[in-house]
Amino acid sequence: MKIMLQLSMVAFGFGMLSCSKAEITTNKDEVISYKSRISPIIAEKCLDCHSMESSFPMAKYEQLVQEGINGKLTAIINTENHHIPFPMALEKTEKEAINLWVNQNYPE
Ligand code: HEC
Repeated sequence: MKIMLQLSMVAFGFGMLSCSKAEITTNKDEVISYKSRISPIIAEKCLDCHSMESSFPMAKYEQLVQEGINGKLTAIINTENHHIPFPMALEKTEKEAINLWVNQNYPE
């Protein structure tokens, strides 16, 4: 019985550890900067179609902020029914990062 208790304590401990690890990427207090966090996501997942030459360029900080201000950026990333093809679809943590960045008023 004592062993079981100790085992479950250990399991609980691991649970806590993995939990705090996962939170590093979604920590609400973390400042999400465009440069370190957002721009690599956009470059990888969006710029194939949203380059400077496209009708809706998002290659520059100001352009992406504009999409954020007009509400289209979050509207698109937070819907299942978006236009972004599967290989470029955003991971959950990437969506969270973009949403936080918008809520934090676009740290550069
Ligand atoms: C395969 C090409 C393609 C990819 C990849 C793509 N987009 Fe788009 N996106 C478009 C096209 C085409 C439009 C304009 C037509 C439309 O709204 O469906 C558009 C429109 C938008 C708009 C609205 C622009 C406006 O002002 O009306 C936003 C915001 C947007 N995309 C965000 C993104 C984000 C964020 C990503 C990356 C996660 C992304 N898109 C990836 C093709 C793409």
